[in-house]
Amino acid sequence: MRTGRPSARIHALMERMTLEEKLGQLSMLADGLIETGPPGPHNPFTMIEEGRVGSLLNVWGRDLIREAQRKALEETRLGIPLFFGLDVVHGHKSIHPVPLAEACSFDRALWEETARDNAIEAATDGIHMTFAPMLDVSRDARWGRIVESAGEDPLVNAEYGRARVRGYQNPGDDGFMRIAGCAKHFCAYSAVISGRDYGEVDVSQRAIEEIYLPPFRAVVEEGVAAIMPAFVDVAGVAMTAHKRLLRNVLRGQWGFEGLIISDYNAIAELVNHGVAADLCEAGVLALKAGVDIDMMGDAYNKGLPEALARGDVTLDEIHEALVRVLAFKEQLGLFDDPYRGIGRDISNGRVKRRALAREAAQKSMVLVKNDAVLPLRNPARVGLIGPMCDAPADQLGAWASAGAAEDSITILAGMRAGFASSRIVYAQGCDLKSAIYGGAEEARLAAADANVIVLCLGEERFTTGEACSRTRPELPQCQLDLARLVYESGQPVVLVLAVSRPLVLPDWLVDGAAAILICWHAGSETGPALADLLSGAVSPSAKLCVSWPATLGQMPVFYGMRPTGRPHDPNNGWSTSFLDAPYAPRWRFGEGIGYACFERSNLRTDVARVSREGVVNVSVDVANTGDCEAIETIFLFIRDPVARVTRPVLELKDFARITLRAGETAMVQFTLRANDFSYLDENMESRLDDGLIQIFVGASSRPEALQRVDVIVDASGAIV
Ligand code: BGC
Repeated sequence: MRTGRPSARIHALMERMTLEEKLGQLSMLADGLIETGPPGPHNPFTMIEEGRVGSLLNVWGRDLIREAQRKALEETRLGIPLFFGLDVVHGHKSIHPVPLAEACSFDRALWEETARDNAIEAATDGIHMTFAPMLDVSRDARWGRIVESAGEDPLVNAEYGRARVRGYQNPGDDGFMRIAGCAKHFCAYSAVISGRDYGEVDVSQRAIEEIYLPPFRAVVEEGVAAIMPAFVDVAGVAMTAHKRLLRNVLRGQWGFEGLIISDYNAIAELVNHGVAADLCEAGVLALKAGVDIDMMGDAYNKGLPEALARGDVTLDEIHEALVRVLAFKEQLGLFDDPYRGIGRDISNGRVKRRALAREAAQKSMVLVKNDAVLPLRNPARVGLIGPMCDAPADQLGAWASAGAAEDSITILAGMRAGFASSRIVYAQGCDLKSAIYGGAEEARLAAADANVIVLCLGEERFTTGEACSRTRPELPQCQLDLARLVYESGQPVVLVLAVSRPLVLPDWLVDGAAAILICWHAGSETGPALADLLSGAVSPSAKLCVSWPATLGQMPVFYGMRPTGRPHDPNNGWSTSFLDAPYAPRWRFGEGIGYACFERSNLRTDVARVSREGVVNVSVDVANTGDCEAIETIFLFIRDPVARVTRPVLELKDFARITLRAGETAMVQFTLRANDFSYLDENMESRLDDGLIQIFVGASSRPEALQRVDVIVDASGAIV
């Protein structure tokens, strides 16, 4: 989905358009059915009649969309169709795990398939664009929007983004089922100071280039239809008006020809940023930076006529944006079939889509501790305790689009079905945030009567996501009180955490559990998927795409840190560390276990030296020495130990999944190009040095889980 030169139809249309109609096409309004920002003063339906809006957001429902489209076609002078956008982030009706969870599958094919199902369900509801994938590399659990990301690593976000865009934009041969992706939030939004949403960002040029831009570059290569600049300023330059990054880098260097759509009211908010005096100046800044569509700001409608009269913008600049918007509509087929896809009968695929939601949930839940209590083999009595057991709405997660709580299968229902021959004794114990009358006694009874307890704690879904920053990402006190009481029973406890961000957990909670499964907000099929894993029908396979901090003050904490002049050494007080907290996170990037055991051996490269144009094949044999079939994810990191600037202790370059039966061994191979060893030097030029590169391959970013093999680069210090 790329825009190009105007077709004859668009050219002819533009000849007939008034300035108001042109600016209307550049304006997107919310219907207000779903709130993702402050409501505007406008009535979108009146604006449609006046030809002053070209697209709507946050509207769904076939009848409403049909009616809005009919108005645009039949009650406006030129009958230009609208397009409709919605945040279809992790499902439309069949809800999948939140992105932070699904990223833990490290399964590119799954990411693509679930995106395809999102597209099919949304398209038949009249949606043409999803404001996804969100590609903000996220390292701070205080920031509520960490839930929307694929975690802390740039490569994982890039690969996730590519797969999502393929899934949205190419679901099979049926063009009607395609929807456009809009990658967001370009860029560095996740680096807001203290994790405070909408705060300021002040990161280095190196961080921009190495951490925040690569996922966006990847989706541009993949052909993403649209990009949304972030609300924030980066080092004082508001992203909505960031000429260098939007015009020079995104459009110029990367050749992005798609739409740039502002975030919600972000153009008008340039006034609050203190870089525009009024809507007119705000509109000028955004248009000149290359923003084509003004979402909810009304700055293009209200400000650009005056700016044009003053000579602050030209008609050509307005036309540049207009051509992109109309070409986008043309490529979606809206001029020929404005009701495309709406109401298509997709009911025969529902069972398959729900099965995929269940598979996605199974593959997203991360087992981080198991003292041989799991899997549960036909337990006589299970105490199922906690406020997340029967939480059909909360398990859906933060961006559940049109997902209905009535369609959720809860943990309680899933466990009853999955453990049909066990007696399940259920007690809610407390609410998510407060104690309930009699809850403690009920929980005590359920615990006393059980052979094993499954304790399901977690977060309300709307305490994560946008505008949900927290200085204390922890479990509420009432849930900790419930856990203490349950632990006192002395029965083995499987702790299930239904959350959407890493939480800081007290040591006693972690130490006292016999097993811990991070089940996340895993969507419509949370219950059956959890039962599949707890019963051993399926072995857990997910691994953490984000580190879990051990204490609040550790944040942000992530694996890809630089070594520093005084690298951490527990035996040396003069090395980088905390006096009152561990250095390492509680659980690291890549950690996660299943019911099998894997051993790696024979790590090797096919060449010892690599030239500037060369490739290195890295292989390792992986054996399943356990007694069940399972999936293992293998990570490949590199380290450049001597460079002109300090390089991270580990940099992820690839990951692979492999399914092995009990007793089976197979080879996993990665191919690296010499260019994968290049880096940005002190002048921010890409450089490939001669010398040693260490390659680490293993099960997680934990040092003990990695094996090393070296390769020598022979590149003559090339600038690449
Ligand atoms: C969010 C975006 C979202 C938009 C439209 C904004 O508040 O930052 O991520 O796509 O609303 O719902």
